[in-house]
Amino acid sequence: MTGDKTPGARAHLNVLSDLCTPWCIHVVATLRIANLIAIGNTDIKTLAEKAECNSDFLHRVLRHLVGKGVFAEPTPGQFALNEVALELLDPSQQLGLDLNGIGGRLAFAWGSLLSTVRTGAPAYHEIFGLPFWEDLEAHPDIAASFDALMGLPGHGTPDPEVLVTGGWELIQTVVDVGGGTGALLAEILRARSEIQGTLIDFPGTVARASSILQAAGVSERVRTIGQSFFDPLPAGADLYILKSILNDWPDREAALILSRCAEAARPNGRIAILGGVLPNDSVSSLSPEMILLGGKDRTLSEFRELAHQAGLSVQASGLLPSGRFAVECRPM
Ligand SMILES: C[S@@+](CC[C@H](N)C(=O)[O-])C[C@H]1O[C@@H](n2cnc3c(N)ncnc32)[C@H](O)[C@@H]1O
Repeated sequence: MTGDKTPGARAHLNVLSDLCTPWCIHVVATLRIANLIAIGNTDIKTLAEKAECNSDFLHRVLRHLVGKGVFAEPTPGQFALNEVALELLDPSQQLGLDLNGIGGRLAFAWGSLLSTVRTGAPAYHEIFGLPFWEDLEAHPDIAASFDALMGLPGHGTPDPEVLVTGGWELIQTVVDVGGGTGALLAEILRARSEIQGTLIDFPGTVARASSILQAAGVSERVRTIGQSFFDPLPAGADLYILKSILNDWPDREAALILSRCAEAARPNGRIAILGGVLPNDSVSSLSPEMILLGGKDRTLSEFRELAHQAGLSVQASGLLPSGRFAVECRPM
C-alpha cells in the first residue's frame, strides 16, 4: 500500500534490496576464507595475509556476515565456521559463487536486468562485451568452470532414468544433444551395457568429457562430436536427449534445435526433453537463463506448439524418478 510507514514494511524492503550481504558472500567464497579457517587460520591478520587482502576491510566484511548468521567471531578478531559457513567448503558452492569463474558471470549479469526488462532481450553483452556463449568461447577458463558447474562437480551425478514411458529394450543408440561434459550419458551407459552413446557439444566442452567418461568406464562406447546443435545432427539414433537446453533459448532457436532432432530421429527415433518444460498449471518465473540468454521455461501446451512447428508430436509427459518433469516426442 502506498505510504505504508510501518517499520515492518520498511525493514522488509531494506532486507530484500540489500546487495551488501550477497556481495560479501561472493567475496569470502572467492577468497576461500572458509577453507583458510578450516585449516586453522582463525586470526583476522593471518586470514588477510593468506588471502592477500586488506585486514581492516576483510574484518568488516566478516563482521557483516557474522551479523547475518554466516561465520562466528567468538572473540574479537578471531573467526570460526558455523553451520552456514561450513557450506562454503562445498566445491559446488564455490563454483557458483567464485567471482573469478562462472560465479562472477552469473552475479554481474544481474546488472543487465533493467535493460533486459526494458527490451525483452538479453543484455549480457552490455556487461561483458559479448553474448554469453561467445563470452565463454573467448574465455576458456570461465567456460571450464561453467562446464564444471553444469557437470558432476556442480550438479552431482545425474539420474540415468530419462524415459517417461520406459521401453529401454528398444534403445541401442543415444545422442545427448548439448550434453556438456557427458555426466548424464556416462550414467546411462553405465546402467545399460548394450547402449552406444554420442555426446554433442561445443568442441572445448566435449574435450573436457574424457575424464568423466573414462571414470565411468564407458569411453569405449561413446563418440564425442564438437559441433553446434543448430547444424544437422547425426541421424538414425534411437533416442535424442535435450537436458536443460531448450530453456536457454527463445522460441525461434528452440524450434530450430527441435527441428534438428526431428530430422535426425526420423522415422523411428524418440526425443526426450528434460528441463525447460513445465506442467500446464505452472506459473512462469524469472530465471538466470532469461538474463543470460533470453531463454525461458515453457508450459506443456506452449511446448507442444513449438514441437509441432518442428515436426514433432508429444507422446508422453510426466515426472521422472528424479522428480524432474520430462516430455517424450516422436517425429511426425
Ligand atoms: C545448461 S547447459 C546443459 C548441459 C547438460 N545438458 C546438462 O544438463 O548438464 C547447456 C549446454 O548447451 C551447450 N551449447 C550451447 N550452445 C550450443 C550450440 N550451439 N551447440 C552445441 N552445444 C551448445 C553448452 O555448451 C552447454 O553444455
